[in-house]
Amino acid sequence: MEAFDLIIYNGVCITASDVGAYDIAIKGGKIALLAPSESLAAVDALRKIDAEGAYVTPGGVDCHVHLQEPVMFGKGSSSDTFETGSRSAIAGGCTTIVCFAPQQKHEPSLLRPLAEAHEKAQGNTYCDYGFHLLVSNPTETNLSELGRLKAEGVTSLKIYMTYEALQLRDDQILSVLHHARDHHILTMIHAENGDVLNWLTAQLEARKLFAPKYHATSRPSALEAEATNRAIVLSSLIANTPILLVHISDPEATHRIRQAQTAGQPVFAETCPQYLFLTRKDLDAPGFEGAKYVCSPPPRDEASQDVIWEGLRNGTFTILSSDHCPFSYNDSEKGKKACITHERPVGEFRHIPNGIPGVETRLPLVFSANKIPLTKFVEVTSTNPAKLYGLYPKKGAMMPGVSDADLVIWYPDDKLPDLTIRNEALHHANDYTPYEGIRVKNWPRYTILRGEVVWDNREIVGKKGYGQFVKRETAVLNNVWKVVEEQGSFDAALL
Ligand SMILES: *[C@@H]1O[C@H](CO)[C@@H](O)[C@H](O)[C@H]1NC(C)=O
Ligand SMILES: *[C@@H]1O[C@H](CO)[C@@H](O)[C@H](O)[C@H]1NC(C)=O
Ligand SMILES: *[C@@H]1O[C@H](CO)[C@@H](O)[C@H](O)[C@H]1NC(C)=O
Repeated sequence: MEAFDLIIYNGVCITASDVGAYDIAIKGGKIALLAPSESLAAVDALRKIDAEGAYVTPGGVDCHVHLQEPVMFGKGSSSDTFETGSRSAIAGGCTTIVCFAPQQKHEPSLLRPLAEAHEKAQGNTYCDYGFHLLVSNPTETNLSELGRLKAEGVTSLKIYMTYEALQLRDDQILSVLHHARDHHILTMIHAENGDVLNWLTAQLEARKLFAPKYHATSRPSALEAEATNRAIVLSSLIANTPILLVHISDPEATHRIRQAQTAGQPVFAETCPQYLFLTRKDLDAPGFEGAKYVCSPPPRDEASQDVIWEGLRNGTFTILSSDHCPFSYNDSEKGKKACITHERPVGEFRHIPNGIPGVETRLPLVFSANKIPLTKFVEVTSTNPAKLYGLYPKKGAMMPGVSDADLVIWYPDDKLPDLTIRNEALHHANDYTPYEGIRVKNWPRYTILRGEVVWDNREIVGKKGYGQFVKRETAVLNNVWKVVEEQGSFDAALL
């Protein structure tokens, strides 16, 4: 019997801390050992892959993925199912996704939405997955369920400061943070001031301005910066409860986050490719085309992109996720065009389904941009998300004996295929990608999940249903909960 299931030799491994030429041996779905380059080339294994000098990275961990959620805001429903979204993930080198189990405002329990999300995902995914609970009805009794959620491997929740169907008032946010702190659950916050944006939207509509580009006008930077600041202040009131500010796009918000971090507050931040590769000019495409870029917050300008890159380089941003939330463009029932009527040929920006696809393009886009070191790339796209969401070191690492054998082998420079992003070559169920025509410098050649090759030279070879639910632990990044506990209780801070 062969000693190993799979050996990858002649590769250059990149982790969040090192770059080095190592061979990798895999057994029973785990990394079994790392050895000096070429030393495993002659060792027996069921399968061997010559990386041909290419980079090998831990599989991507994307903890901001919306799939198959119930329809919550007017028209539009996601074009991807757990099947198509997770298929798209592995084709882009992502081996673990964390999706949302959304509680609706009228829903009394947090456990029911979780059960529903499980039902949809179970047996249908190509990659491993977990869930965040999206909380929109945070009564005291409901929040008492957080302990149960944690026991079921759900150690993070998400709340919104905008969207009528989901928006929480400040007192509700405090209640959520208070309970989350008790249970060591991380709170993700969508920080945009919903009341202000509703008011601005009404102003624009009163002036008969409905085109997609006014989506950006209705959500100016100040509204993200204000809500970000408010979230930071609210977390400080609950004795510095850890929060993660999701999809940050704006320089002012970024500076405010840095300031809180420098002051020692456990504030984490996420950004996404749309804030690095798109701008609000994209929303100004002719006719209704700008709707393809409508997501919230909206893409900003080039100067903002530079600030976001800088924040990634210097550690202000903890993680980089996709916020994959696809709506087909040419679909008048569930897609972007659902907001077009006879009276409004350019639709109404207020009703354009909000979100864009990106789970497949996230890694190649950022890998190729050459704006951050490769170790930082691995840190923000795999290792830090794993640490922050309680998946580490099972995920996001290459620790022999400990880590799942989740890996990406990239192409060697002399074997690159055509690398122009084309929607027809992607594996989601969406009819467009906002990154159409962008040339990337590399793409995952093999994606390996728990020792199985699931993506092989541009072909899906994994099986639907191979993906497993991963029960998550609490965050270990920066030893955050221990530090929080040492700083004393909320009662001590209050009194
Ligand atoms: C959640 O809160 C609602 C409203 O207060 C209540 O009716 C319901 O019973 C609570 N659910 C649980 C599981 O405690
Ligand atoms: C890191 O980058 C962010 C975004 O540009 C900036 O606000 C912050 O001042 C920088 N921090 C340091 C310590 O350089
Ligand atoms: C868009 O959808 C309409 C109606 O479903 C169809 O007739 C048309 O061919 C589609 N256009 C494109 C470009 O796919």
